[in-house]
Amino acid sequence: MFNKRKTAKLSFSRAYMKCSDVFWKMASLKSRVVDLIARNLREPKGLGGHFIRVILEKRNTGLEREIVKHLNIQRDDKVIEVGFGPGAGLNAALKNLEHCSGKVYGIDISELIVDHAQTHFKEAIERQKLEIHLGSAMELPFTENFFNSVFHTNCYYFWPSLDQGISEMKRVLKPGGIMLTGLVHDSLKSFSSKGFFKYGPNWRPELYIEKLKEGGFVDVSMETVTKPSGHSYQVIFASKP
Ligand SMILES: C[S@@+](CC[C@H](N)C(=O)[O-])C[C@H]1O[C@@H](n2cnc3c(N)ncnc32)[C@H](O)[C@@H]1O
Repeated sequence: MFNKRKTAKLSFSRAYMKCSDVFWKMASLKSRVVDLIARNLREPKGLGGHFIRVILEKRNTGLEREIVKHLNIQRDDKVIEVGFGPGAGLNAALKNLEHCSGKVYGIDISELIVDHAQTHFKEAIERQKLEIHLGSAMELPFTENFFNSVFHTNCYYFWPSLDQGISEMKRVLKPGGIMLTGLVHDSLKSFSSKGFFKYGPNWRPELYIEKLKEGGFVDVSMETVTKPSGHSYQVIFASKP
């Protein structure tokens, strides 16, 4: 009787150990996957980076196109996208500038993203309608008062310093130039709660808007736009005085 109880106790504790081991392994696998996604959202690299690029293209092409519509690009404008990712925004901006003297520029910190753009946009680059730069929003390789507009979607969250990024955008914009930012607030909240913004802690638009004002931008506002499909997105407007 005593032995039977002892054996039952032992097998119960073994089963418990096995379950907690499986649970621990699953939890650690989940946190590694979350970390991989979070890192590649900030800077796509390697196989995970290719995967994230494809996902970003599927999810954000609509938002990128919408933001470009708000830019109201003119025939001889110089326009730059910061953190262009898969390139849907560059593509939309290029379409606005076919057969005119304006030019599109893109800068991204990821080598994978820049390599992909150089292949994907080979023809536009050769025609000198598009310039692609590998570099950071923290140090834009352009002279001051160069661009008519600057835009970015889902990017400022990852900047090491919002102040520095904002100061750089303002420096390269012409007086009267505009800065637009696109985001989907509900998705950001959900991404943050799942840990995907581990490397993008400054995702809250309220802070970014505050910093734009402090950085000397004027007419700063955020609007929610609802498309006929019912999907909404946010666009942040700012201009250089
Ligand atoms: C989440 S992805 C968004 C890409 C695209 N704009 C979109 O909405 O799908 C962030 C992009 O910003 C780039 N990025 C992150 N930090 C950057 C920085 N400091 N300067 C320039 N690009 C940056 C990343 O390499 C990546 O391509």
